[in-house]
Amino acid sequence: MLKKLKARWKVNSINLVLIIATFALGGSLCGYTGRKILLLTGLENEALWIVLYLLLITLLWPVCVLLISLPLGQFAFFKKYILKIRRRISPLAAVKGADLGEKKNNNDQVTQIAIFASGAGSNAEKIIQTCPGFLHNEKKTEEGTALKKYTVALIVCNKPGAGVLKIADNAGIPTLLIDKDRFFNGDSYVAELQKHKIEFIVLAGFLWKIPEPLIQAFPKKIINIHPALLPKFGGLGMYGHKVHEAVIAAKETESGISIHYVDELYDHGALIFQAKCPVDFRDTAETLAQKIHLLEHAHYPKVIAGILQNGC
Ligand code: GRF
Repeated sequence: MLKKLKARWKVNSINLVLIIATFALGGSLCGYTGRKILLLTGLENEALWIVLYLLLITLLWPVCVLLISLPLGQFAFFKKYILKIRRRISPLAAVKGADLGEKKNNNDQVTQIAIFASGAGSNAEKIIQTCPGFLHNEKKTEEGTALKKYTVALIVCNKPGAGVLKIADNAGIPTLLIDKDRFFNGDSYVAELQKHKIEFIVLAGFLWKIPEPLIQAFPKKIINIHPALLPKFGGLGMYGHKVHEAVIAAKETESGISIHYVDELYDHGALIFQAKCPVDFRDTAETLAQKIHLLEHAHYPKVIAGILQNGC
């Protein structure tokens, strides 16, 4: 139930608690103030009292909730929430809202992206944080209206307990835990992705090969990051520290990252971007992994932004 609310309101656990507290405190304040005001009138007719009380609390509720939301830091959420209710109950506001909504959609369409990850999720986190359409962060949305072109709408993971799931949870992003059989022998979750209106897929440390139905459903719309300079050190079994160990064993003097489109073969699709870093004779798989992570975090979000801003 709480999970559903978080996903629906696109908030993290802390914000959810604060929102529920605002509802409770705002409701109490509204009931208390309404009663006090009516007592001041000295009205004695019980039926009229009830009618006026209901009317008063209906009018007072938005004010009280907004007041309480200020110290609890939830003003932006409640402002949006109250406007939504207003649009639902007032035909005039609904027409205005519809007009606004239509303009917003035409000028400022938000592309929904899904990140597929099975690990710690540091790349996923950076992409979420730097995404200009980070709808889960009101401030950024308001500041970056002109840039609001895409948002991370879903995290897909094949590993229960993976760090990336916690990152998604904290950002209030829905997650989809996938099953091997349905992924490789079923519909590869195409229907599920369509249900979430996903238009672009970013692989960030996802170890399963992408099956054909998914590639066909998202032609040139799936990209991957590989922690080495492809075409070297790619392919089956080349993941995580194994890549860095192979680079060091081959006495390479440089390594780097490769961002590429995904096709039916491992680490094979057309290259989009590469960045390099030196490999030192003292480097271990661990230290090289750190250098590579820095490169990934600096470039992957920018490359994604570049592809999506120019229309995917
Ligand atoms: C990255 O090094 C990426 O290149 C590789 O898997 C790693 C994922 O790291 N495909 P993280 O889970 O994003 O921290």
